[in-house]
Amino acid sequence: MQDVITFIKENRESYIEELKELLRIPSISAIPEHKNDMQRAAEMVSDKLKLAGLNKVKIFQTEGHPIVYGEWLGAPGKPTVLVYGHYDVQPVDPIELWDSDPFEPVVKGNKIFARGATDDKGQLFMHIKSVEACFKKHGSLPVNVKFCIEGEEEIGSPSLGSFISTQKEMLKCDTVLVSDTSLYAPGLPTITYGLRGLCYMEIELTGPNRDLHSGTYGGAVDNPINVLARMIAKLHDKNGKITIPGFYDTVLQLTKAERENFKKLKFSEKAYAKEIGLAELTGEKGYTTLERTWARPTLDCNGIYGGWTGAGAKTVIASKATAKISMRLVPHQDPKKIEKLFTKYIKEITPRTVKVKVTALHGGQPVITPLGGSIPVIATFFQLLKAPSVLMGLGLNTENLHSPNEHFDLNHFMLGIQSSAYFFEEYAK
Ligand code: BES
Ligand code: MN
Ligand code: MN
Repeated sequence: MQDVITFIKENRESYIEELKELLRIPSISAIPEHKNDMQRAAEMVSDKLKLAGLNKVKIFQTEGHPIVYGEWLGAPGKPTVLVYGHYDVQPVDPIELWDSDPFEPVVKGNKIFARGATDDKGQLFMHIKSVEACFKKHGSLPVNVKFCIEGEEEIGSPSLGSFISTQKEMLKCDTVLVSDTSLYAPGLPTITYGLRGLCYMEIELTGPNRDLHSGTYGGAVDNPINVLARMIAKLHDKNGKITIPGFYDTVLQLTKAERENFKKLKFSEKAYAKEIGLAELTGEKGYTTLERTWARPTLDCNGIYGGWTGAGAKTVIASKATAKISMRLVPHQDPKKIEKLFTKYIKEITPRTVKVKVTALHGGQPVITPLGGSIPVIATFFQLLKAPSVLMGLGLNTENLHSPNEHFDLNHFMLGIQSSAYFFEEYAK
């Protein structure tokens, strides 16, 4: 094993150069204009898998973006590890807040800056390189390995569920290995034991049949934007609890032992607030910050629009107003049920002065608990393949995922490649 580790350490520079190639492709799954880039990124991942020494590498086309698969099953009698990751990235806006081109990676000190650096190209790349290093040194791997790298994670994995159910035999495995989460602190090995689920909704209000002059009509009609703001404000009470009836009914409460364990982790409210530029934190009463972000459900407005949003002033009462609202869920909340409760409540609190349309965007099942983000496919792997996942994340929450100046710590990148090699070796035992 030491030879593999030494080999990995010697190849730092070439690994970084190769990672840059992948980071240069703007594989933004949410934007249709990037369809070709999605194909290019899938091809590059597929090439890298082939170069690493995997067989049967194949790009599967879907109704959406391609899924890349590869395997090496040369260790009969040994367990099979399925590595999952995603080559798609989030949009880059607001682009003006980036210090460098999101798709022209730059290394500054120990960090590499680019969209997708930590989420998830940098992290999925670690496993490709560890497999490659094992093959280079030993000509084989200690376990059977399969890779399933998708291009739609950031848009809710619409094609992956049916792919997994039609390819059950091919994807059969003993465990799923995922590096798409974060370390608790720099340099601290972390295994995440749960993820929150998600229910993402859109509310559209329509008031008057056209935009109105706010001088002539203002005062006589309800303004959809004002109404929407009042409705959103109603979704939390003064204790930070979500007011949707039935919302908390199936929420799994933290055990005493969990709460005590959370308290043992080194955590500074002050430093946490400072790092994101806040004077003070807030949230559901009766819970600590770690409990609120790891083990409690939340509701946030992710976007709100309507009326005049261009430069300067326009005196108008808009006909329509829209809000995108997502809820992070915990076991045993069911996204489908929450969707219904949300829709029912929104309809109840909509005044007769406007019409309402509520649409569900996408969802994801929560898994055990905790850790704030969501990777809906983890629940799918468990349901369809009966395989548990190991969430071996090497990112940091401060690495600006989904936000300008995303980066990845290259020391963690290097440690991740080594951890991956150790994982295969230990798992074989
Ligand atoms: N890698 C993240 C999830 C994540 C981030 C987990 C940080 C733990 C810590 C993933 O790519 C992601 O962004 N997921 C989305 C899911 C959604 C689009 C269905 C999320 O959490 O918003
Ligand atoms: Mn991710
Ligand atoms: Mn993401």
